[in-house]
Amino acid sequence: MNAVDVALRSGAARLLSGRRFPRRLGLDFAGEIDAVGPGVTGWRQGDRVWGGVRGFTRGQNGAAADYVLVPRTQLSLAPAGIDLVTAAALPGVGVTALIALQRHARLREGQRMLLRGAAGGFGSAALQLAASLGVHVTAVAGARHLDALRELGAKEVLDRRLIHPGDLPGYDVVVDGVGTDLAAYRRLAPRTVTIAFAQPGALATVAASTVFGSRRIRSFSGRLRAADLATLTQRVNDGHLQPVVAGVYPLEEAAEAHRRQEAGGNLGKLVISSL
Ligand SMILES: NC(=O)c1ccc[n+]([C@@H]2O[C@H](COP(=O)([O-])OP(=O)(O)OC[C@H]3O[C@@H](n4cnc5c(N)ncnc54)[C@H](OP(=O)(O)O)[C@@H]3O)[C@@H](O)[C@H]2O)c1
Repeated sequence: MNAVDVALRSGAARLLSGRRFPRRLGLDFAGEIDAVGPGVTGWRQGDRVWGGVRGFTRGQNGAAADYVLVPRTQLSLAPAGIDLVTAAALPGVGVTALIALQRHARLREGQRMLLRGAAGGFGSAALQLAASLGVHVTAVAGARHLDALRELGAKEVLDRRLIHPGDLPGYDVVVDGVGTDLAAYRRLAPRTVTIAFAQPGALATVAASTVFGSRRIRSFSGRLRAADLATLTQRVNDGHLQPVVAGVYPLEEAAEAHRRQEAGGNLGKLVISSL
């Protein structure tokens, strides 16, 4: 389950999904290979994999299912030692976190990073990856999750309701998974990255920030490519990262998972299981 599933299902993202409903939902998955297409080498029935379906435009998604058809360019072996339902919480947000931290934030050991939305799917992955690099992470989230975020590696935690960006000190990097107040948060660091450009107003703020040159707000749309998925698997296998699961719903109860995603307040990810 991803935040965007709610927008696709509700019709709020018709520019992406197209106007014809119903639509299939779900972007990323973990599972076992059931069959391999003609000419595909390197994979066989029973391999434990994770990855992404083709994207959420024009009805090509649909990872919330018993079976998915996946191009080999969008999967890798799943990590060893965690069950597939738990693993399913990580590919989408994990790869997005890798790309945000490595390619856009260019994070290095010893830097100070402010992370907004730290309790979310993206944030809980980005926090662990940054902490494993030796980055000093200040995590911003709802009060009830602050202790858990320390356990995931945050050096400082801030209650989102008690802070104002103008009162915060400077950082080397701001990484944002929220999409609001971006102009104010951009001032806190020479590098700012948001993944939440689809939030109302965010895209305009990102576009307007190009006047600040290297201090502009950076953003991107994550793709689940095989090489990045394999890197993510390695990070989990090396003990740098664990999926954070807020709840698991059987496929027949996917509607309840949507309601809970909409309500918010979760730590980590909701998973829809067909096992
Ligand atoms: N660009 C990409 O490729 C990409 C990839 C993945 C996700 N996204 C987008 O990025 C956003 C985050 O994704 P996600 O998977 O992490 O979603 P998520 O699991 O819903 O997490 C969002 C988190 O932000 C928190 N939050 C809301 N307002 C906040 C504030 N003012 N300060 C601090 N935290 C706040 C939420 O808390 P509450 O639940 O308590 O409100 C929640 O914990 C979504 O808009 C999603 O669509 C983009």
